[in-house]
Amino acid sequence: MKRIAVVPGSFDPVTLGHLDVVGRAAGLFDELHVLVVHNPGKTALLPIAQRVSLIEQSIAEAQLPGTIVVTSWSVGLLVDYCTDVGASVLVKGIRSQVDVAYETPMAIVNRDLAGVETIFMLPNPAHAHVSSSLVRQVAALGGDVSPYVPSAVYRYLQK
Ligand code: PNS
Repeated sequence: MKRIAVVPGSFDPVTLGHLDVVGRAAGLFDELHVLVVHNPGKTALLPIAQRVSLIEQSIAEAQLPGTIVVTSWSVGLLVDYCTDVGASVLVKGIRSQVDVAYETPMAIVNRDLAGVETIFMLPNPAHAHVSSSLVRQVAALGGDVSPYVPSAVYRYLQK
C-alpha cells in the first residue's frame, strides 16, 4: 500500500522554510501532497491558484525528489481531503515552541476526527525565523525578501 502524506498550509507565499520541509518529507513517503488551504483567520495576499502555481514552480526549480502533488482544498475539513486521497499522515514544519503550541490542538483534532496522525518536522535552522507573514510584510514595504523565498516567488513579488 502506498504511504501518502499531506503537507497542508496557507503558503501565502511559499517560503524556503516550507520548501525545505517539503523536500525532507518527500523522501519519507511514496507520495507527498502539498495542499493549499484557505485559512479564514488570515488575510490573504495571493489567490489560491497563484500559490499553487508558485509552489509547483519552486519544487521544479529546486528539483525536489520523489512524487509530489500540489493542489488546493476549499470544501470541508482537511481530513476529508486526506480520506479522499488515502493519506494517513499530515506533515507540519515546526520552527519554535510557538509553532508547537499552535499546531498541537489541530493535530489532536485531526486525529480525533479521522485517525490522521501529524508528524512535526524541524526545518534547517537557517530558515527558523522565516514566515509567510514576515515575507508579506517586508515585500509590501519594499524590502528584499530574496533570502527567504524561492526565486519563483521572488520574481512574482517583484512584478
Ligand atoms: O499555514 P497555516 O495558515 O498555519 O495552515 C493552517 C491550516 C490551513 C492547515 C488549518 O487552518 C487547516 O487545517 N484548515 C482546514 C480546516 C480544518 O480542517 N479545520 C479543523 C482541523 S484543524
